[in-house]
Amino acid sequence: MEETLKNLHKAFIGESQARNRYSMFAKQAMKDNYFELESVFLETAEQEREHATQLSKMINQLAAKAGKKPAPLMVEAEGAAMFGSTLDNLKWSIAGETHEFTQMYPDFAKQAVKDNLPDIAKRFASIGVAEKHHKERYEKIQKAIVDGTLLKKEKPVIWFCRKCGYMHIGLTPPDKCPSCDHLKEYFYTRVEEY
Ligand SMILES: [Fe+2]
Ligand SMILES: [Fe+2]
Repeated sequence: MEETLKNLHKAFIGESQARNRYSMFAKQAMKDNYFELESVFLETAEQEREHATQLSKMINQLAAKAGKKPAPLMVEAEGAAMFGSTLDNLKWSIAGETHEFTQMYPDFAKQAVKDNLPDIAKRFASIGVAEKHHKERYEKIQKAIVDGTLLKKEKPVIWFCRKCGYMHIGLTPPDKCPSCDHLKEYFYTRVEEY
């Protein structure tokens, strides 16, 4: 149980840092005119906050189980305060998420099984699934930026203006939104199935 308690704290530190990094990366994406990526970073930051919330709940539950009040715990953890251009930020984000879903959460889940904490093991594994999705989404955006296909598709798609919701079908968005005058960088494409 000691090891899992430490791992929960390490994960809490990791998620907390990821949340802040993504909020900072969102601002940089804005400066670099990647407006859709700004919202992806912000959404992901909120999802990392949710992971931190779940980890914090488990830390509190373990303390209660041991008949103790939750208290600070010293653990060895990596400080990760990288910040750069949007492409750098994406690269670091992909590396961080990959580490989490291929190594950190699977290792923590295994340890939780050893510590006879199956619910915590399941939660670690499930958070890993979310991180995998984060990595894949960042990777798609990175590829589109590098390939120059973020605002230029091979087949017509539906574009939406982030500012006003204007809709346009085509290979590219309009240079300027006819409904609100915002530039083409405000357009994103998405499958809306509700
Ligand atoms: Fe996370
Ligand atoms: Fe993540």
